[in-house]
Amino acid sequence: MSLTIGVLKEQDEHEQRVSVDPEVTKRLVKAGLTVLVELGAGTKANFFDADYESVEGKITDRASILSTADVLTMISNPDQATLSALKTGQLLIGQFNALTVADEMNQLASTKVNVLSLELVPRTISRAQTMDVLSSQASVAGYKAALLASNVFPKYFPMMITAAGTVKPAKVLVLGTGVAGLQAIGTAKRLGAIVSGYDVRPASRGEVESLGATFLTSSVSNGAGAGGYARELTAEEQAAQQKELADFISQNDIIITTAQVPGHKPPLLVTEESIQNAKPGSVFVDLAASELGGNVAGSQPFETNIDERQVTIVGAANLASQVPNSASQLFAKNVLAVLNYVIKDETVQVDLQDDVFKDLVAVYDGEIVNPRLRKTLNLPELPKVEPIETEGD
Ligand code: NAI
Repeated sequence: MSLTIGVLKEQDEHEQRVSVDPEVTKRLVKAGLTVLVELGAGTKANFFDADYESVEGKITDRASILSTADVLTMISNPDQATLSALKTGQLLIGQFNALTVADEMNQLASTKVNVLSLELVPRTISRAQTMDVLSSQASVAGYKAALLASNVFPKYFPMMITAAGTVKPAKVLVLGTGVAGLQAIGTAKRLGAIVSGYDVRPASRGEVESLGATFLTSSVSNGAGAGGYARELTAEEQAAQQKELADFISQNDIIITTAQVPGHKPPLLVTEESIQNAKPGSVFVDLAASELGGNVAGSQPFETNIDERQVTIVGAANLASQVPNSASQLFAKNVLAVLNYVIKDETVQVDLQDDVFKDLVAVYDGEIVNPRLRKTLNLPELPKVEPIETEGD
């Protein structure tokens, strides 16, 4: 019997994406797999049940998928009812933020459900780059951040020379110029704004400048940490940074913030004082807005607040979901790359000695596997598995 992939509908009210689109369904079916898609799973992303059926995906209800699929794909975490319905040996693929949901991972381990948590993908291994949902979704979010800012901002982005007079271009500052920040810079430039970028990683200067934006030098001496990411700043560095940023902020109209430090709460870049000193009508779009806090003081995920000076703060959590069609297409390609990697001869094969699986696999066969997750849970390191050598005759 062929392997069955089940595509679940998202349950979070803010989520509009779907983990597998009709294009990827078509490829999976062509590879001999059965693809079950939950009724209406792609509707909010503009992928309709008929689109899946036209490529031989089978539309069915959630309960049937949960009870029959070998592999289940989704964007984000399943709810408790789904978790309870899962069966030993099923493989779950999604962006579960495993490091922050230890209880859920333990529960999955106890039922021997296997979990590939996509945000754990080792981003510096080149063969894993096609699986990198952090990059694909951050890129969409950065694009949308610039559009959202232009929508809220009460003036033009580009300079306008008209018979009725000249309008000055908007000034956009992007704080944190990783994947999302660079895409925000590119989009704001295309809209005609004057754009600058700021980051604590010196390496990002060249990337910002190559987009035609100005790079603002930080007082932080080399904020680069492990794996191409930023490190957490000391309290003194953070205070100095907030002070220098207050100046930059007051000279701009729109501030898009994207700064993250893996494993830590987002750094506070824009203080209450900086907001008070910002120009009236300034717009802050905080992509780091989360329950833990964001880059902008007072930003709340999924909320927009406007004060008496018409300063707007957009808590822009999960922006990728606001471009659901494109974001889903890219997410689905990432899932396809993972499936191509994990399915061999129509069976799921997880080789825990493989460098990609070592990170990507959160839970396997009842065991928490990912080293960072084990550390978070205070579990000892797993013993190294020696490769089995096969001797020739
Ligand atoms: P991220 O989402 O963790 O952070 C966003 C940005 O915020 C980063 O550029 C970071 O340096 C910056 N940041 C953090 N703390 C800050 C602070 N206090 N002040 C100002 N900026 C701060 O990072 P993202 O976008 O996921 O990736 C960052 C970098 O990781 C990339 O630019 C690249 O160097 C590396 N990367 C490498 C990949 C590869 O080798 N295939 C793939 C993806 C990313």
